[in-house]
Amino acid sequence: MLRYLTAGESHGETLTGILEGFPAGVPVTAAHIATQLKRRRLAPGRGPRQAHEADAFAVTAGLHKGMTTGAPIAVNISNSRPLQKLPFSEVPRPGHADLAGMIKYGVLNSALIRERASARETAARVALGTFALRLHALLGIRFSSRVISLGANTALTGKIISAALAAARRRGDTLGGVFELRVNGLPAGLGACSQGAARLGARLAAALFAINSVKGFEVGGGFALAAAGGRQAAQNPGLSGGLDGGMTNGAPLILRCAVKPVPGLRAGALSTNLKTFKQALVISKTSDTTAVFAAAVIAEHAAALELAGALLEKFGGDSLDEIKPRVAQWRRQTGKVLSRL
Ligand SMILES: Cc1cc2nc3c(=O)[nH]c(=O)nc-3n(C[C@H](O)[C@H](O)[C@H](O)COP(=O)(O)O)c2cc1C
Repeated sequence: MLRYLTAGESHGETLTGILEGFPAGVPVTAAHIATQLKRRRLAPGRGPRQAHEADAFAVTAGLHKGMTTGAPIAVNISNSRPLQKLPFSEVPRPGHADLAGMIKYGVLNSALIRERASARETAARVALGTFALRLHALLGIRFSSRVISLGANTALTGKIISAALAAARRRGDTLGGVFELRVNGLPAGLGACSQGAARLGARLAAALFAINSVKGFEVGGGFALAAAGGRQAAQNPGLSGGLDGGMTNGAPLILRCAVKPVPGLRAGALSTNLKTFKQALVISKTSDTTAVFAAAVIAEHAAALELAGALLEKFGGDSLDEIKPRVAQWRRQTGKVLSRL
């Protein structure tokens, strides 16, 4: 079983990710990981923290001479400016985990909640997801993502994106958006229809909803399918988004996620001091202007981990050398049917 865990706080010393159940013999270099971390870090709309955050990392286990060994993989990512002393705030930031977390854990300091709830944690998921992306790439499975709307803008060009972000920044406001994730080359038959939780759509939804700020999820035709006629929906394979009955059907996998606007506002947002119950203004000077571009990158990695798990369940194998011929044989076998449809 492929599984992973992360630990670490937004302003702690280190973020740690552990990936267990990953096969041996997959070449992964520091450059592969650095490239993916950089895509997340420098995505459009990020705030001032990214100027000093270097995402310096070390793979401390599971890799030998640039090759995975089959042992649990550990990645540590340093935070460039760890805090020696946490700030104290009795004021939960609206739209964040603060209030729910302060109530849940019975603490009066919102910093104790936000340090772990922060999306800084997603850097560890991206580092681990890089291993999964490498496995997929070597099996001919390709991931890509793009932002298809930013706030109310749907016809996105570089110029429109820059202008929308600059205008939001000037207003002290932030933007949400929608990203689309495509996976080409997935073998048919990953996932299962035997139990609800085994359905690949359910697994992918959980993986993508686990990304901070993701508030909506669609497969293929998604919400638009509700308004389509049955004849149109059933006879248009593109609308399935690559999944039928919780299994891959050999078509490209197409997922979309809605990302809410970043809740931390430079212009400030009203909240309540949980000790005095007086109104308080929370100003977030260093917030990102949008998370949608970074979330798209994170989603590639989160989906790659989930799909690597589904792939290993279907084909088994402790090493890439074992898995590769099995996948190739399956493609030949299923291709005989799929190519005639
Ligand atoms: C990559 C990324 C970066 C984010 N950056 C910020 C930020 O700078 N400021 C902020 O207030 N929220 C930011 N968020 C959003 C919060 O992490 C998120 O909305 C918050 O933790 C509440 O969780 P929820 O939206 O999942 O309920 C970011 C989210 C992501 C995915």
